[in-house]
Amino acid sequence: MNIESPAMPYNFADLEPAISRDTLVLHFLRHQRVCFDRMLALVRGTELEPLSLVELIRATERNPAEHVLYRHAAEVYNHNLYWNSMSPRGGGPATGLIGESLRERFGSHDRFVREFTDAASAQFGSGWLWLVWRAGTLEILTTSNAGTPLVRGDVPLLALDLWEHAYYLDHQNRRSAYVNAFLEELINWDTANHTLAELGVGSEPRVATRSRAAAEEAVSAGGLRMP
Ligand SMILES: [Fe+2]
Repeated sequence: MNIESPAMPYNFADLEPAISRDTLVLHFLRHQRVCFDRMLALVRGTELEPLSLVELIRATERNPAEHVLYRHAAEVYNHNLYWNSMSPRGGGPATGLIGESLRERFGSHDRFVREFTDAASAQFGSGWLWLVWRAGTLEILTTSNAGTPLVRGDVPLLALDLWEHAYYLDHQNRRSAYVNAFLEELINWDTANHTLAELGVGSEPRVATRSRAAAEEAVSAGGLRMP
């Protein structure tokens, strides 16, 4: 097996008060861990066993017979990036490469916040909110259920879990309060900056992406890196 066990990059209580310890314990142990264990059980002894997590997601996405495995593997990846999209010292306007790219794409932090929160509200039911790098620019998008932008060729930079289990204990049905807390107190721009640097964004001469190989590396690192 080529896939590491999920790990939290901080302690369960470190994101309080924005996200409570109880929420993170349940989320990590009862949701992601369950997905990870189920994924391992489905992969063990098959020809898919040597694949990395990203390879496994891409190999199973288009095969209806493997869809249960795809959903569990995608949820492991999505949650890995979600944990790293938050920090106890996060929140506020972006800095560094991601700050420059956001200003270029959205004009201002306030406009980015408006588009991000509007996209979160527009997502019906369970899903994910993403900031991705696509063809040399930033895009905000949502996916339903376990969907992941990896299978669209995008490079995920940051992920926000929009399933109710991510916020119900703390905010009940007020998804917008959870999204505001994420933006104001938690969002970890360092994770996005790290991936953009791996892609070669901001290097001279300016290029959209250094290479396909660099993009693959950045995608893998984004999902698995621990600060
Ligand atoms: Fe979740």
